[in-house]
Amino acid sequence: MKVTKAVIPAAGLGTRVLPATKAMPKEMLTIVDKPAIQYIVEEAVNSGITDILIITNRGKGIMEDHFDRAPELENRLLESGKQDVYDEIVSISKLANIFFIRQKETKGLGHAVSCARSFVGNEPFAVMYGDDVIIGDDPACGQLIRAYEKYGKAAVGIKAVPEDAIHKYSSLKVDHLEGNLYSCTDMVEKPKTKEEVLSLFSILGRCVLTPDIFDILDHTLPGAGGEIQLTDAMRTLAQTVGITGVDYTGKRYDMGDKLGTLQATVEIALRNPVLGAPFKAYLKEIAATL
Ligand code: UTP
Repeated sequence: MKVTKAVIPAAGLGTRVLPATKAMPKEMLTIVDKPAIQYIVEEAVNSGITDILIITNRGKGIMEDHFDRAPELENRLLESGKQDVYDEIVSISKLANIFFIRQKETKGLGHAVSCARSFVGNEPFAVMYGDDVIIGDDPACGQLIRAYEKYGKAAVGIKAVPEDAIHKYSSLKVDHLEGNLYSCTDMVEKPKTKEEVLSLFSILGRCVLTPDIFDILDHTLPGAGGEIQLTDAMRTLAQTVGITGVDYTGKRYDMGDKLGTLQATVEIALRNPVLGAPFKAYLKEIAATL
């Protein structure tokens, strides 16, 4: 079955990027000239996704407004002859069919995904973590969709993380299949001891899940941090039917982390067709004084 739906959980509290996220969701933090979540929606669209559900819990208005039409602003742009900006602004509202739902309590990523049940129905769907922006020529979500279509199993985006950081992430038991694809048969969220570490591969940012995840989530008890962890539910899938791990190409930026937001700004600005050259010259000037 074709994957046309994506869920973007964006209801976290963003405590690692306070005070910026006191009143604004971290998914709305700006990278150069767009909020983080727009990069994610664009990746979804470039991956063949047509319907997107954004899970929010506060600051909902600002995200809805961003993907809506803005008549007053649009008229002003037209009146002042700014056709290019007008076209860009209008195109944001036409990217995809975007829906919103509230996660009423911040009970974890697994709980947020379970709020998407009626939107998803009985179809495979992508989950795109709202604070992970991935930039690359081949959209990461699309790479996972291809792996799902090839193996008929849920697919998770994986990356190797440093040994001294694995305790902050999930750790996966994997066997190499071919190229950048792995078979995953077990996983643990935030391993506490060295013995619990299954490998340095962790799930980062994206997955394509089958709808049986919802029944599993219904029976998943709070895990690490007292939250209902998506990893704990995916573990059941990995142990029973297996999951495909995709070491996707593309650079991931963690918008839930202050250093991650700075890296995203610098690197994405350098790729910008207009700002790239003057920004590079500025960086070189600054770097020479460091
Ligand atoms: P994180 O664990 O990074 O989000 O979840 P957080 O809770 O905001 O993190 P802290 O407070 O900085 O440590 C990954 C993704 O899942 C969403 C977040 O918005 C983020 O995009 N999420 C997390 C939810 O939608 N609901 C939740 O209950 C938890």
